[in-house]
Amino acid sequence: MSVEKLSWEYKGFTLPLDVTKEILDVLPDFKIRDDDIVVASFPKTGTHWLRGIVAKILQAAGKIDSSADSLIDAGPLEIRTPTATQPGYLTQANMPSPRFVVTHLPIELAPKGISKPQNKVKILVPMRNPKDTAVSLYHFGKKILKLMGVTDDVQWEEFAHNFTKGKVAYGPFEDHVLGWWQMRDDPHFLFLKYEDMKKDLLSAVKTIVAFLEVDLDESTIKGIAEASTFNNMKVDLDNSKVAETQAIARKGIIGDWKNMFTPEQSKAFDNWYEEKFSETDFAFDFE
Ligand code: A3P
Repeated sequence: MSVEKLSWEYKGFTLPLDVTKEILDVLPDFKIRDDDIVVASFPKTGTHWLRGIVAKILQAAGKIDSSADSLIDAGPLEIRTPTATQPGYLTQANMPSPRFVVTHLPIELAPKGISKPQNKVKILVPMRNPKDTAVSLYHFGKKILKLMGVTDDVQWEEFAHNFTKGKVAYGPFEDHVLGWWQMRDDPHFLFLKYEDMKKDLLSAVKTIVAFLEVDLDESTIKGIAEASTFNNMKVDLDNSKVAETQAIARKGIIGDWKNMFTPEQSKAFDNWYEEKFSETDFAFDFE
């Protein structure tokens, strides 16, 4: 199978083929529960990292135990991942509370319970600079294609170009990010930058603990931050029963883009970024 045939266009977004029209038609009415904890993210921005931190916080607070079914990675709501038997929303429908719900959909296509949240639902949105996001997505895409038995190799040059044209999974990146960013003043939402989490994980964990409204002492919070570093979390991710999750922990650093981008590609990204983000009140850090 060729790589180009793995996505389709819907309402201005590029979606993986496995995110079908039938699924998108039912998802707006997918029932979000009051005590759901949602991660709404562009892929490769730190979804599993946040999910792992939330799990550790809820365990420490006694809200779930370490064998809880809700710790199983059901995959994003909208997709049947290569090794899953059904889309995430069907798996999630039978999961006990509190559930971890993940979606990579843009806000326009997400369940109404996430785009117009009510009651106590909590939604975390990780954000990561687009150069590192592109590099991470590129490497992950290659691993996923292998899982799907696709043999054509994706070339970085073409992928980098496609990223700025919105022609990679869940693109355009700018529409995705700015769509969710509209919710920045809504108290159901917490936005976290990957780069800030890397630089000060303890503060990030404290912010998440406060957002989840749980009560933990300082030494427990420190322990959670320590257990959530890349090296420590990699052990859990690599040992996951889900093949896609085993492909998540790659390098976990800021600035890996410098190992991939040529000066011309970097300039093209800078121009694209300037055009799409300079007039907005959202800014990424490039290091
Ligand atoms: P890299 O490919 O740059 O290494 P997602 O979970 O949204 O798919 O994001 C995956 C990215 O988050 C990968 O980036 C992965 O290595 C990184 N990641 C996962 N756990 C992390 C952690 N504990 N600390 C830092 N980065 C982490």
